Amino acid sequence: MNIAIVIYSESGKSLKLAQLAADKLSAAGHQVSLTRLETSPAFDSKHNLPLDRIKFTNLPELGKSDAVIVGGPVWAFRLCLAVRKAVLDLDGQWQGKKVLPFVTHAFPWAWLTGTSSLNSLRQLLARQGAIVLPGTVLSGSGKKDEARYQAAAEAISRALA
Ligand SMILES: Cc1cc2nc3c(=O)[nH]c(=O)nc-3n(C[C@H](O)[C@H](O)[C@H](O)COP(=O)(O)O)c2cc1C
Repeated sequence: MNIAIVIYSESGKSLKLAQLAADKLSAAGHQVSLTRLETSPAFDSKHNLPLDRIKFTNLPELGKSDAVIVGGPVWAFRLCLAVRKAVLDLDGQWQGKKVLPFVTHAFPWAWLTGTSSLNSLRQLLARQGAIVLPGTVLSGSGKKDEARYQAAAEAISRALA
């Protein structure tokens, strides 16, 4: 399959998970492209722009993708606005696509902001007409625990097998 991975990642944790998942999917024979979204003007935790002012400079084209992985961090108890904006900006490209959403977050338990943020991403994608897979939450993203990242990447790659 052609699999597009589209992520926003400020401090590299969602990127790390996305890269591990990409490696596993490539090893399984899939064609994988990974886009880490960039913004102009700057959007980050120090430049926390409202939704309508977030502009991406490298939004990918999803047309040739059989499946899409989309993800990013939880910010202030919610899905980071950049991930929400990317889904909205890719309006019209989600219809009928198999999409696996993920979030990463610092709290150690998924029920504390992880699951609710993933669910809001799932609902947003479903409203765009995507075929939304259950998705993955990586909790405790700041812990130096490689096994945690490997397990989440494995779950992502298995879900698209
Ligand atoms: C502004 C801001 C708000 C955050 N709010 C939360 C939160 O509500 N819950 C949580 O578990 N982690 C929170 N975090 C931690 C991030 O979700 C976590 O570090 C994430 O893995 C970062 O992903 P990234 O490196 O891909 O940007 C917050 C981080 C930032 C910068």
